[in-house]
Formats: sequence, C-alpha cells, structure tokens
Amino acid sequence: MNGKPHAMVLGTGRAVPDKVLTNADLEKMVKTSDRWITERTGIKERRVVEPGTPLSELATEAALAALENAGVAGEEIDLVIVGTVTGDMKFPATACLVQERIGAKSAVGFDLSAACSGFLYGLQVAGSLIAQGGYRRALVIGGDVLTSMVDWDDRDTCVLFGDGAGAVVLGPSDGERGILGTYLKSDGKYSHLLCNPGCGSLNPPTPENVRDKLHTIRMEGREVFRHAVVSMVDALKTVLDEAGMTVDDLDLLIPHQANLRIIEAVNKRFRVPAEKLFVNVEQYGNTSAGSIPIALAEACQSGRVEKGSLVGMVTFGAGFTWASALIRL
Ligand code: ACO
Repeated sequence: MNGKPHAMVLGTGRAVPDKVLTNADLEKMVKTSDRWITERTGIKERRVVEPGTPLSELATEAALAALENAGVAGEEIDLVIVGTVTGDMKFPATACLVQERIGAKSAVGFDLSAACSGFLYGLQVAGSLIAQGGYRRALVIGGDVLTSMVDWDDRDTCVLFGDGAGAVVLGPSDGERGILGTYLKSDGKYSHLLCNPGCGSLNPPTPENVRDKLHTIRMEGREVFRHAVVSMVDALKTVLDEAGMTVDDLDLLIPHQANLRIIEAVNKRFRVPAEKLFVNVEQYGNTSAGSIPIALAEACQSGRVEKGSLVGMVTFGAGFTWASALIRL
C-alpha cells in the first residue's frame, strides 16, 4: 500500500501490567545474570501480568486510552483488529471481547496471527478497508501475554519476553497525514525456528504434550537473530524506496523491541541518530505484537513526535513474518 494516504492515526494508547520482573528476580529463577541479559539483549526488566490475567484486559485498556486520545467514542468504532498470538481463548476472537467492552455495537472484530508483526499487519489491513470506503473508525490493537507461554525453567527464552498491548484509532486521511506506505512479508520455511508447537491441532494439550512442555515457546535464538536483522533491513529499505524517501526524512524510527543488539545491527545499515531511534526494550523486554504500538503511544504521549511527524516502523517475528510502515502523524 503506497501513494497518497487513505487512513490516518487519530489517537494512540498503551497498557502494560504494573508488576515488574527484573533481571535480579530472574537470577533467582534460572541460572542467569543481570550482566548476561543486559549484554546480550539490553533488557533490564519486563512487565508481567498476574497469572490468569487475559490479553483482553490489556487490549481493552489500550483501546480505551487510544479512544480517549483520539476523542472518539467506542460506539463510533466499526472495525476492531487485534494482532496477537496469545488471545484469551482459541475462540472467540479477543477482538470480539474488546468490541463488547468498549461498546462498539456495530463493529466487526477479528484477530490476526502474525506474531511480533501482528500490529503492522493489522495496520495494513485496517488501512486498506478504510481506503475501500466501507469503514470510518478502526481500532488496531497489537498485544500479547507471552508470559503465558514462557517456560520459566528455560533460560534461553524466559529472560526475553514481557506482556503489554498498544492501540491506534484510524480514520480516513485528511489527504496529507496517514499511512504513506506498508510492506508485509512472510516465509514459512523457517516456521520451526520460532514456534509454540502445542495447544493447536498439531499437538493438542494432552497430558503427554503438556508434560513435554509443547505449549511453551521454542526458539533457535542465533538463527532468529540472523534472520531478524536481514529481514528488518529489507523491510525498512523497501518501504522507504517505494515512498521515494530515505531515513533522513524520518522524524522517528520505531524498530521492534526484541533485543537491543538486533536494533543496533539493523541500524548499522541505516545510521539513524540516537535521538531519532526509539528504544524502550530495557523497560519492557519483547512484548511481541505489543512492542510497536506501545512504543508509538509512548513517543506520541511524551512529545517525541507530534502532528505531521514522519514515523517509520519495522518489525520481525515468528512465521517468519516481517513488515514495515511509514506514517505521517
Ligand atoms: N543466561 C546466561 N547464559 C545463557 C542464557 C541466560 N539467560 N541463555 C543462554 N545462555 C548461554 C547459552 O547456553 C550459551 O552457553 P554455551 O556457550 O555454554 O553453550 C551462551 O549463553 C551463548 O548462547 P547463545 O545462544 O549463543 O547467545 P546469543 O549471543 O546468541 O544470545 C539470544 C542469545 C539473546 C537469545 C540471541 O540469540 C537473540 O536475541 N536472538 C533473537 C531472539 C529473539 O529476539 N526472539 C524473539 C522473537 S523474534 C523477534 O521478536 C525478533
């Protein structure tokens, strides 16, 4: 989707749990150290829900914050998309639960599964539906409660993830502001490198599969790292090239907040100065589909960007999926 904008961001919001899990806390749970985690990932702490808290709670809180920020009422929303891999239940979609809680009676809601790329995939889908003319007020939410599928005995993965959700309200563009370009890609060849093999139809939650922890995250960290860097460079370069822009045109670049070393490796190619590069991974860890919309909401609400700013966003996740977007706020 490139060219004149059809849909623009009217408001942003975010929600993270109150409970903080620090690297020092993790030192008491697995054989790790604050030093190792900080050096390899840049993460110092992450937010985690109380066990049993569903995604819909964070997603609804983020949605209500975005609605208030946009000055839009829940009943005006006609489309709700939740990008997530940790919805409350297999069905119904978490988007339907959020729809009900915000009073969006006439909306259509559905979830979208693209792991860490869920928010940018949702932005493209909602933007296209608004461009077609059928919808006027869309909520795009990205969020995950990845701690619900973390193996807390596995030091390779448990130090990386946190919980959170972010949201934007989209409406028709004023002709200048809005989504200037998006780029989405996936490659199922690498699905085995990062997956949650249990709980689906492949490995239903039988006692044996639960015993073997198939319901937790499996990851080949080094391979994921390598692909993440190459793919995020590809996605950012492509969306900028197609828009006839360079990183110098950006007021802010928001990369997926998975690992500071991934962000730095991607930025080796682009050399975006620190003041234009958004980083909050040290505070939240990897919140999956929540990462980009949480960062966008924080950038807007801290005044780091304002109406008219050009923001680039780029992400990578399981699938593999990767994506980028350019928006004029
Ligand atoms: N604490 C201490 N030591 C650890 C820990 C830990 N938490 N985890 C692994 N180690 C050990 C390993 O066992 C290994 O020990 P060994 O040399 O004795 O075998 C050593 O540290 C080095 O392990 P590596 O896996 O080579 O470490 P690496 O530098 O690759 O860092 C990491 C691992 C942080 C997982 C990195 O590969 C990474 O970030 N990959 C990307 C993963 C990711 O971001 N996934 C999220 C989903 S996709 C996305 O959002 C981009």
